[in-house]
Amino acid sequence: MLAAAIGYAQGVVGDVAAGKAAFAACASCHQVGASARNAFGPQLNGLIGRRAGGAADYNYSLAMRQSQVIWSEQTLAAFIKRPDLVVPGNKMRFSGWGYDEKKLANLFAYLRTFPPNPAAN
Ligand code: HEC
Repeated sequence: MLAAAIGYAQGVVGDVAAGKAAFAACASCHQVGASARNAFGPQLNGLIGRRAGGAADYNYSLAMRQSQVIWSEQTLAAFIKRPDLVVPGNKMRFSGWGYDEKKLANLFAYLRTFPPNPAAN
């Protein structure tokens, strides 16, 4: 599996506050929280467990809509590192996040605090 190939290890305990800081790099394009809307990128509430391309009313690339990826910690770790490898042809341009396992675990802990939007998925 791709996620295994980049060495993401499960079991690292994440810190929500540090995850919020880590999400600052995503927040220019993505929103989370009760008032989250689709912006340049789709809203990311309830992300872990969501199918790719699943936010209601967001204009995804065809590649993302058809990818059949389910967002788990493993697929997200791989996607954040190399979006184009996980969903070839998708339109998220992102790199240089200073990827490491602890930072990812923090990000996931933060993302898990946001339940799905009632209207989404
Ligand atoms: C420069 C803007 C930008 C930044 C910064 C960015 N993204 Fe994205 N992201 C996008 C766009 C645009 C898409 C839609 C891709 C498509 O439809 O092909 C997307 C899609 C996604 C998706 C798929 C969502 C879904 O509903 O399937 C995830 C997950 C995601 N981004 C996570 C992140 C995370 C986590 C970060 C920060 C580490 C981040 N993104 C940073 C623009 C960005």
